[in-house]
Amino acid sequence: MWLLLWLLCCTGFAGCAEKRFRKSSVAGGALLLSLLAVLLYVTFFPQRVHELKGLCCAVTGASDGLGVFIAHALAAEGVEKLVLGARRVERLEEVKADLVNRFPKVKVLTLKLDVTDGESRNDFLRQATTFGPCQVLINNAGVLTYAFFEAMDNQAMDAMLQTNLSGTLHLTKSFLPELLKEKRAHVVNISSTAGGCSVAYGGIYAATKAALTSFTISLRLEMRLEKKPVTFHCVCPGLVEDVGMAASASGRIGATVSETGRNLGWTSPTKVAQAVVRAIQYDEAQILVNSIPLQPLFAIAACLPEIWELTSPLMGALGFQLYRHLRRNAELAAK
Ligand SMILES: NC(=O)c1ccc[n+]([C@@H]2O[C@H](COP(=O)([O-])OP(=O)(O)OC[C@H]3O[C@@H](n4cnc5c(N)ncnc54)[C@H](OP(=O)(O)O)[C@@H]3O)[C@@H](O)[C@H]2O)c1
Repeated sequence: MWLLLWLLCCTGFAGCAEKRFRKSSVAGGALLLSLLAVLLYVTFFPQRVHELKGLCCAVTGASDGLGVFIAHALAAEGVEKLVLGARRVERLEEVKADLVNRFPKVKVLTLKLDVTDGESRNDFLRQATTFGPCQVLINNAGVLTYAFFEAMDNQAMDAMLQTNLSGTLHLTKSFLPELLKEKRAHVVNISSTAGGCSVAYGGIYAATKAALTSFTISLRLEMRLEKKPVTFHCVCPGLVEDVGMAASASGRIGATVSETGRNLGWTSPTKVAQAVVRAIQYDEAQILVNSIPLQPLFAIAACLPEIWELTSPLMGALGFQLYRHLRRNAELAAK
């Protein structure tokens, strides 16, 4: 692999440098080859650039599902302090007890947080800053309702828009001045593969996650251009088995996540939590976590939505269960 990369780089850069090639299409090809080599290098040989040891991390939505796994993964990396936020404080206390039992050195603060409520966000920030200060914010809190759009309950719609998007963005904005005081800080947004590809019966959820992904990449760039010490990262899980919202949605219709995700893939909560750690350690902008690579599908869906539309009705016949299962969830919500 190294040899191949070296050869690609040499051929590419030599081609660019060669004067007589400059005006020919060979120079363009050589430049492309160089870019490909750099891309391959960055993809397959990422450098570990940051450590989590000794940091203070705030995690939203830490009372259940992925948030619990993320908190454990951070503790396993040696973070010094964890601030856990969610609406159910009693659940947070259970999570804290388990964490402290497994990682006695980590100091844990649990705080009631409703990301949709401005006062609650301000309280969370104030107490987290006094306990910390925090260098890492993990925006994990999220809600999901599958429904036929025209029949969707307005409260459920607002809950998704406010929790997954506006509340999360406001929390990030109020955290930012604190994070900017640090030598180095990170914001990790837990988005979803649903944000990269249209999901029938989950339009609002997909819209919030697409916006969250887009926000992350924009802010990452803005921080780089402004030479600010905060780095933004995005982790996009596919369907997660065992815990969390996808497992609950599949369970509601008597199915498992592996059945819902047949032929499209799924992932485990541990892999998602590891991706959060990896995003920071290896400074990755966006990580898609799924058993099958979905990037090619996203590219098709983004460039040729008509093809995606044409293939969707065939999905059932091809053994894909996703839309059948999501539709059954939407039917349940309509009852
Ligand atoms: N599970 C999946 O398959 C999957 C796939 C892709 C992306 N994701 C994303 O991963 C994140 C975690 O999802 P999950 O599957 O772990 O879901 P989950 O098990 O339902 O947990 C959601 C967490 O968010 C918290 N939360 C909900 N509303 C909140 C609010 N207004 N303020 C503060 N906390 C709130 C909940 O705690 P309280 O109820 O105590 O407030 C809970 O701790 C979400 O952003 C989700 O979109 C999940």
